[in-house]
Amino acid sequence: MSQVHLKPADGKYAEFRAGPPSEMPAHVASSELIVRDLQEMAAWYEDVIGLEYLNGDVGQIKMGIAGEPLLTLTQDVEAELAPKSAPGLFHNAFVVPSRAALARWFAHVVDSKITLSGASNHLVSEAIYLDDPEGNGIEVYRDTPRSEWTFDDNDFVQMASLPMDLDRLYAEGKGQPWSGMEAGTSLGHIHLKVSSYSDINAFAQDLLGFDLMLGYTSAWFYATGGYHHHISANEWHSKGHPARDDSMTGLKSYTLQFNDRSLLDQVAARLPDSGYTYSIGDDEIVVRDPSGIDVRLV
Ligand SMILES: [Fe+2]
Repeated sequence: MSQVHLKPADGKYAEFRAGPPSEMPAHVASSELIVRDLQEMAAWYEDVIGLEYLNGDVGQIKMGIAGEPLLTLTQDVEAELAPKSAPGLFHNAFVVPSRAALARWFAHVVDSKITLSGASNHLVSEAIYLDDPEGNGIEVYRDTPRSEWTFDDNDFVQMASLPMDLDRLYAEGKGQPWSGMEAGTSLGHIHLKVSSYSDINAFAQDLLGFDLMLGYTSAWFYATGGYHHHISANEWHSKGHPARDDSMTGLKSYTLQFNDRSLLDQVAARLPDSGYTYSIGDDEIVVRDPSGIDVRLV
């Protein structure tokens, strides 16, 4: 049995040992969903998740927290509901700044009789799962202290799916005023449904330069700065299915913000020989991933 230790042996992530996922060298800043009922969806994200309305274009609403855009809803009334097997979004995962914030949000959704789809203690985090009205997965989670995360001999982060004491979480949040998601909440990670492990692995590691933090037989976790994962992917329902097409609801694009400019420059240098479809604009590079999702690099 492999040994478990507190940090990667090579000290690779030492300078990032503290701090939220948004402070790592690159992170998921926001994502964009194609929706059929724009007003209903925006109202749901405001009421249930606690996002604020920000600016938007015609047929589009941007939502976020404390003025920071996290989610763009783009309307296409003709879009077909994406089948469960279609590569695309498994969930957008909003990370709240503390266990107390998770408890307040959890008490709010329980009191509002919102249907939840699951809850897990992942060792590195505690997570609650649900779906929006058009079937897009959502995770709301808090990270456990990074000083408590463990890594194996190969420097893979140790995660699990253990039961959570939801009665206790509810008791911690019950009766406290809730008026929206806490400032400091961000899109901690995005979890994708993919057709092929080798395709997403090449995209995340070889093109984007993210590290593989943990891999199972059908799910993989990638990050920068030693975070447990900024991008994850699974083949559970989508293995071998064709890339999504633009006439479906669901994940159209997501934005990766590079706090470390040199990493973005390295991605840009790899693009011409990569085989991916991409465009370079004044303030972003857009590259289409193997699932047909536009990834905006800024
Ligand atoms: Fe997740």
